[in-house]
Amino acid sequence: MTNYWPRFSRDNFENSVPPIDYLNWYIPRLQEARTHNLSFSGMQYNWDIQGMLGEKIADIGKPYMADIEDPRIIIAKREGVSPDNVLITHGATQGINIALLTAIASIRDKVDGKIVVAAESPTYAPIPQTALILADEVIRVNKTPPTTGHGHWRINYEEWETAMKKSHIIMITPISNPSGWGLHIEDRNWIIKHAEENDVIVIADEAYNDAYRHIEQSRAIHTFGDNYISINSLTKVYAMGPIRFGWLISDSKTIAIAKNIFMTFSGVMSSPTMRIAAEALKRLDVVDKEIEYYRSENLPILRAVLEKHGIDWNEPSGGVFGCFELPNNLDSEVFADQHCKENELLVVPGSMFSDRMTSWVRVAWSIEPSLFRLAVEALDKSLDSALN
Ligand SMILES: Cc1ncc(COP(=O)(O)O)c(C=O)c1O
Repeated sequence: MTNYWPRFSRDNFENSVPPIDYLNWYIPRLQEARTHNLSFSGMQYNWDIQGMLGEKIADIGKPYMADIEDPRIIIAKREGVSPDNVLITHGATQGINIALLTAIASIRDKVDGKIVVAAESPTYAPIPQTALILADEVIRVNKTPPTTGHGHWRINYEEWETAMKKSHIIMITPISNPSGWGLHIEDRNWIIKHAEENDVIVIADEAYNDAYRHIEQSRAIHTFGDNYISINSLTKVYAMGPIRFGWLISDSKTIAIAKNIFMTFSGVMSSPTMRIAAEALKRLDVVDKEIEYYRSENLPILRAVLEKHGIDWNEPSGGVFGCFELPNNLDSEVFADQHCKENELLVVPGSMFSDRMTSWVRVAWSIEPSLFRLAVEALDKSLDSALN
């Protein structure tokens, strides 16, 4: 049987690179184009790119340098930092690569021996697996569901302290995929304190943070000072994944290193990406409002169906996705590929994120309410057949 969860070791891939297994599960299922889709962890919003760019759309293949508003400046203003604290990247995933390369470059000559990275689980596979490529050793640290079934997923201080003591860098996702829950404020403060005590660089993938801005504890990691790198993009919250636009925010010395790395590997950002992003960045509030609308319309329907099936639902306070555990340890890959498939529905099994989540299912309310209603009807039927 194939395992799809993220890897934290190079076992069986010595002198090679392990695959991003979950894509081998997900891409063929997307290609099936099932009628109903609750699998998108990112907001689905149809940007009118032609309307936004107007006649300038004819220039997308020309250099952008002099004739667009610099997206770095727009982001810097939005985040309350200087443009020197911002590096634009091709998406958050490239941001993960560059952030880690930057962190390693900034310590390499003072570290005697192996570079060790601690990375959180469950997670988005490119986080630990970028570390498997670039660092010498990766230590897995866990976040676990609340014992009561409700509230934040938490970290174990003993486990994390042992890992931090051995590590030079820690990689976290403050808003977790697939739980949709933010880092508990006590856990965040604990991580900051221990990172400082142990001289550990913190890299935070904040791809989902913007949908939680209104929640007081969603403070970005870069605001804690030097040696903290925040990663973000327009993919998840602002529905612009296909243009591949993201950014890093950190202290200016760190960003200067990141910029040299970006230029070494990528030269400059692509012109269509920069031109579209420069316009979209001025209109993000349109999507913010749409997310709130989707939450208000879609969540009550989802809650009712899960309750009907006796499923304990731990609803995150922001964003567009969450996850639940199937009763009786039912296998969620079987649920997705048999029961949901029979009802033309796509959901994401928890096994894409962790070996400890084989009976969990991630669902998203990121689609337009009339489509969502039909998708939840399909979920209802799929649960009926799986549980009875
Ligand atoms: C935590 C996390 N970061 C980043 C991404 C991808 O972001 P991007 O498309 O900007 O590379 C994902 C996608 O699933 C994700 O879950």
